[in-house]
Amino acid sequence: MKSNQDSNKKLSAYEKAADEGVDPRCIPQKLTGPVPEHDEIVYPDYPESDQETWRFLYKRQMDMLPDRACKEYMDGAYKLNLSSDKIPYLKNLSHVFHETTGWKIVRVPSLIREKDFFGLLHRKLFPSTDYIRGKDELDYTPAPDLFHDIFGHMPLLTNKSFASFYQTFGEAALNARGDDRVKLETLHWFTVEFGLIKKPEGMRFYGAGIASSLQEVSNALSDRVEVIDFDPERVCTQEYDVWHLQPILFAIESFEHLEKGFYDWTKKLGLL
Ligand SMILES: [Fe+2]
Repeated sequence: MKSNQDSNKKLSAYEKAADEGVDPRCIPQKLTGPVPEHDEIVYPDYPESDQETWRFLYKRQMDMLPDRACKEYMDGAYKLNLSSDKIPYLKNLSHVFHETTGWKIVRVPSLIREKDFFGLLHRKLFPSTDYIRGKDELDYTPAPDLFHDIFGHMPLLTNKSFASFYQTFGEAALNARGDDRVKLETLHWFTVEFGLIKKPEGMRFYGAGIASSLQEVSNALSDRVEVIDFDPERVCTQEYDVWHLQPILFAIESFEHLEKGFYDWTKKLGLL
């Protein structure tokens, strides 16, 4: 594989990490053909050990969410009918999306290339894996898996403002080049993956990287983290490290705030 360091291209944090010899599963793959979408998705023949892993992760993580996850996340998990019983069927989740926000799911084989990823988001298609981490990675996996994709990402995609923001994100990211591309990826990190939201009852999280991580779910709302008000201009200049607990996070006022703030900012940058 050609090293990214051979070129002068601006690297994303994931690309830098991959270049430094980190887990090869974290290297984004180019989609080489069509991927199953919505009704085309089949339910894999999971071994019982995979179902056990889902049950374990679901219960352990769900226990951490009261007073931490925002109401919109919890409402979404309810709408999707997520439960500890068995690994959800992506096709059924896709139908819930379609009825709530018009999105659908496509099943992807791995972490996918940014261009493919942004293109799918722009078309209101959420790429999800359908395999689960091994028993030796229950506490942490650097690679994407269905627990992160489903438990982490999907509840918020039933929220209209968040889903609209995410579609706009896909469009802006497809149009972005060079520094703008890196800015958008940084913003993605601090919103979709690690976003916090201010609520009358206190600070809550909505980011998928927090929802699906045992360590982050307790770290993110602790006094070890400095919380800064969300402002796209400020967020996109923030350094971050994908391999350690986050010391700085950003809080939105509401999902409408995120949707409008992002739209206005990317419009100003000429990305929409
Ligand atoms: Fe993610």
